[in-house]
Amino acid sequence: MELRQVIGNRRSIRFLLPYKPVEPEKIQRMLEAARIASHWGNVQSLRAVVVFKDTASQEVRDALLAPIAGFQIRIAPVVIVWYLETAAVDEQSDRLRELLKAGALGFGEGKEKALEEQIIPIFSSLLEQFKEPGMNEIDCGQGIAQATLMAFEQGLGTCCLGTPHGEQIRENLGLPESCRVLLLQTVGYPAESPEAGGQRPRQPFDKLFHMNGYGNAFPRSQEVLDELEADGLIQSQSPTAWREEELEYLKNALGVKGHGLL
Ligand SMILES: Cc1cc2nc3c(=O)[nH]c(=O)nc-3n(C[C@H](O)[C@H](O)[C@H](O)COP(=O)(O)O)c2cc1C
Repeated sequence: MELRQVIGNRRSIRFLLPYKPVEPEKIQRMLEAARIASHWGNVQSLRAVVVFKDTASQEVRDALLAPIAGFQIRIAPVVIVWYLETAAVDEQSDRLRELLKAGALGFGEGKEKALEEQIIPIFSSLLEQFKEPGMNEIDCGQGIAQATLMAFEQGLGTCCLGTPHGEQIRENLGLPESCRVLLLQTVGYPAESPEAGGQRPRQPFDKLFHMNGYGNAFPRSQEVLDELEADGLIQSQSPTAWREEELEYLKNALGVKGHGLL
């Protein structure tokens, strides 16, 4: 499948087949995709614990807490707990040295000296600041996005679940104090139709993006839009005509009680 189609077809899939396990190698491919994502200074703070429903202890499964649409965790064959290791920032200088050696940073004579005497001291003085929420979260988002697309490419459905109980989950899973739990991602084979109700609504393009200054909407070319529609990146917006019937069916088939919001 072309990249544009993959981006266009991806949806958050809330309804997964509870009985169909996910092959560990498919999860590994997701993790490999996350690992090679771009990171500031190549610091690589993104980490994960993958919880397989079939083999994890009840204690570990009970540790996964998400208050909004948490029913998805009970259904999912796999839950990836994505977290951020702030201590990765302490090794920043080594990551910069690796980049330099790899030819990915700087050029020519004197680059080693400049790195040691100028760049590393700047970064070193800011290390504690770099551990605060910000750049690392952006890196982690990029990695999780790549993992999500890799999951989709392998026929899997995923859904990210935010949680205010990150600290509790961190403790329950025995992660070091230097870690911040970012989110839980449910993974499994979709029980929903591939459209999953259609592409989800988004804010208007001209409200989101500006050109050469705030308030000057980025010009949106109809020609580009037509091209992206033809390629499957932009698709008709949800819901499909039969979405409510599909949801009712899924709810009953999977034994989800109530409205599914909690
Ligand atoms: C960082 C993040 C956190 C999310 N947290 C939740 C959540 O707690 N509960 C939930 O039901 N959906 C959650 N979602 C899924 C969004 O609601 C979903 O992405 C949105 O409805 C758009 O749908 P789409 O992903 O199919 O385009 C989260 C998504 C992201 C990226």
